[in-house]
Amino acid sequence: MKEQPIGIFDSGVGGLTVAHAIKQILPGESLIYFGDTAHLPYGDKSAESIRNYSQRITEFLLEHDSKVIVIACNSASASAFDSLKGKFGKKTILINVIDPVVDYLSTRNFNKIGVIGTKRTISSGTYELKIKEKSPSTRVISMATPLLVPMIEEGFIFDDISNAIIRTYLSSESLAGIQALILGCTHYPIIKNQISKFFNFNVEVVDSARVVSMILRQTLEKNNLLNDSGKVKDQFFISDYTTYFEKIAGMFFEGEINLKKADIWG
Ligand code: DGL
Repeated sequence: MKEQPIGIFDSGVGGLTVAHAIKQILPGESLIYFGDTAHLPYGDKSAESIRNYSQRITEFLLEHDSKVIVIACNSASASAFDSLKGKFGKKTILINVIDPVVDYLSTRNFNKIGVIGTKRTISSGTYELKIKEKSPSTRVISMATPLLVPMIEEGFIFDDISNAIIRTYLSSESLAGIQALILGCTHYPIIKNQISKFFNFNVEVVDSARVVSMILRQTLEKNNLLNDSGKVKDQFFISDYTTYFEKIAGMFFEGEINLKKADIWG
């Protein structure tokens, strides 16, 4: 069991930000990553579709012996976490990317927090609800930023196009005076520096990658599941070939990644 991989999934490259942080914090673990590029973006899909996709991917990751599953996607964490727990909770441990961020924020005393994410994540109201449960006096301003995922998946990062889109979204009056901005989409850490720069580094930009990895480590320790065999093998699967997956994956994982197409919808 200990040698089995950690299953991670997202709609595309976004979950690689989480996979990368996991690798840094738990270098002895093997990963199996699934990017559902055939259905990207999840943020524009119905909650029901996202639940169906997430269920099939979880089955795939369990068929490949995952010992734990990390839902490295906010849209799926918001729409599918409860149903996945209901279906697979007895077989495996499931970790979402929203609760660790909410828990972290409850240790800080922010008056006004912004959240940006996909349409699905923002319309679910999950962040707002969960933050209010722990910190009732915090004002939460939520904003859907749907152009950011296709922009990143198409490789428009650190350039004029991405700067213009980021500026247009973040200049919104509603975000004025925020002390922290949650990157409520796992794709966004790829442009975290551009976002921090927009706020002149005066706003704490919070993403889930590190806090989720810390929770994962605690979970593995608690359940005696840390891989101490010294054998590590990472696997990367996508459901459709996209030009930039390998390029962006190369930013996070040095050397050749062994990318395979898995047709799990047939
Ligand atoms: N990276 C995902 C998220 O955290 C999915 C984005 C999308 O496919 O729309 O929400």
